[in-house]
Amino acid sequence: MKHLISPLDLSPDELSDLLALGEAIYSSPEKYSHCCQGKKLATLFYEPSTRTRLSFEAAMLNLGGSVLGFSSADSSSAAKGESVADTIRVISFYADICAIRHPKEGAPLVASMHSSIPVINAGDGGHNHPTQTLTDLLTIKSLKGRLDGLTIGFCGDLKFGRTVHSLINAMVRYPNTRFILISPEELRIPAYLREETLDAQNIPYQETNNLETVLPELDILYMTRVQKERFFNEEDYIRLKDSFILDKRKLQNAREDMLILHPLPRVNEISTEVDNDPRAAYFKQANYGVYIRMALIMTLLGITVTD
Ligand code: CP
Repeated sequence: MKHLISPLDLSPDELSDLLALGEAIYSSPEKYSHCCQGKKLATLFYEPSTRTRLSFEAAMLNLGGSVLGFSSADSSSAAKGESVADTIRVISFYADICAIRHPKEGAPLVASMHSSIPVINAGDGGHNHPTQTLTDLLTIKSLKGRLDGLTIGFCGDLKFGRTVHSLINAMVRYPNTRFILISPEELRIPAYLREETLDAQNIPYQETNNLETVLPELDILYMTRVQKERFFNEEDYIRLKDSFILDKRKLQNAREDMLILHPLPRVNEISTEVDNDPRAAYFKQANYGVYIRMALIMTLLGITVTD
């Protein structure tokens, strides 16, 4: 049995197989519509979510399985003081696999250590969001046709944005990746990521607070929301929340084939006038999330479908 806690839990070959399965499911979803019959997915969400929880549930239902779970800590016995370790011991009797989102970094790892079913990290604090990374990789591979040789601009809250941390860790594995990290000084990527991942592996990157000057260089622009829920001080959030707003005017300087991604939810950082631009791929990205989660559930449950 295997869990998915960090994007690096998957070897390059396992990741490649998973993406191939996601693409196969996207092409012929009906072929997979009964393969998880009799299996149950538990979604344990201690933090708000729209896409991750519902796409996990849609994924399991699309595979012919069933779902159960809770969507807030308040509606679970966490509100009475139950630990994650005790909760997962019990959920292991009720479900075959579970996806857990928690505000505390490391909580899904703790769950995996006390679980007898596969545990998937559906986002832990400002740390990691590996299934968003899988979604991003499937989107990039499907829409750009490759994962190597890309210049990726991450823009916004690079300090608290767990989707950014996870995707950087995944993309450094592909040859000739280059990052442009666009953020206010206070929201730069954490030092551990800069030192232990980028510097340690000699990955080319540039840090800037000017989106417009670097936009023409990008193959992918990955916009992110300033993570209100991670700030200790509301004044800081208000000061920083609109640091970057992508609009039609700014996009005039971007490449015709640049891809605009965003893990969503969006607040102000992408003007709605951009939604109809052919480069805007963030809603397609949310759709790819269902197919890669179908692939992940099948893989962790050891279920295969043959022709
Ligand atoms: N991208 C993402 O994690 O969205 P939700 O918070 O809505 O799940």
